[in-house]
Amino acid sequence: MENQINHNKSSCKLQYKKCGLYQIKHYHFALVDSTNQWAKENIDQWQAEGLTLVTASAQSRGRGRLNRAWFSPKGKNLYATFCLFLLRPEEAGQIGQLLALSAAQMLQKFTLPAALKWPNDLLVEQKKIAGVLCETRFLKEKQGLLCGIGLNVNMDQEEAGCIDQKATSMAIELKEKCSLELICNQLSKQFCSNLQLFFQAGFTPFLSSLQSAFIHRPGQIVEIGQGEKKIKGQFIQVNEKGALELKLFSGEVKPFYSGELMEG
Ligand code: BTN
Repeated sequence: MENQINHNKSSCKLQYKKCGLYQIKHYHFALVDSTNQWAKENIDQWQAEGLTLVTASAQSRGRGRLNRAWFSPKGKNLYATFCLFLLRPEEAGQIGQLLALSAAQMLQKFTLPAALKWPNDLLVEQKKIAGVLCETRFLKEKQGLLCGIGLNVNMDQEEAGCIDQKATSMAIELKEKCSLELICNQLSKQFCSNLQLFFQAGFTPFLSSLQSAFIHRPGQIVEIGQGEKKIKGQFIQVNEKGALELKLFSGEVKPFYSGELMEG
């Protein structure tokens, strides 16, 4: 089913799609400020069950983690926000990591090996190809999770140079352009299949894939930045709650649920 609707004055296409056991309610905008922002402000439009997906061809105020801007040129990359209601609050961090893992698994199918940088950056050849921004919002007593992903698909080298950190895209790495629609469908398929397993069996089945995808190895000295604060320690693992465990120099093992990971 497909509908052309006028949402907050900007033109938007609404489609319902089947994806494994999930039904996806998919809003696509030609232009939106931020797919995360739209999803947040329109939580009453989300499906009570299944997934709601908000995508856009361009974002005028795409946001990254730590309030950074996310470069969102028109028709070049994937800007997508997956929305669902949680059963338990602790699922939020885990589902964000599942989305990052799903993107890595999808990239692998396109012969691109991507590494994960905790909490949920994706790197190819040590250059950022994608990032995930998760936020939560309540609708009455129900906790909603919105996981936004920006995946660089057809951006060229010159555009990648506009980003304030080393960045790449699928097209730069593969030396050919990819269909944004195909990438969106493949990512949705991979994410739905992972979500299905997650809701049946929890986070444990994903731990070994996650551990091997992370760029940091157990024992490595790393530093976590949390605002002005920087905490140094030995990387232990990402645990079953999705938290990064660091052994501090005091000997204490501390779980971190957010922050910015740097080399020690
Ligand atoms: C990061 O690595 O800092 C996270 C980037 C997340 C960007 C995506 S693009 C789609 C969605 N809408 C936004 O405004 N941000 C996320």
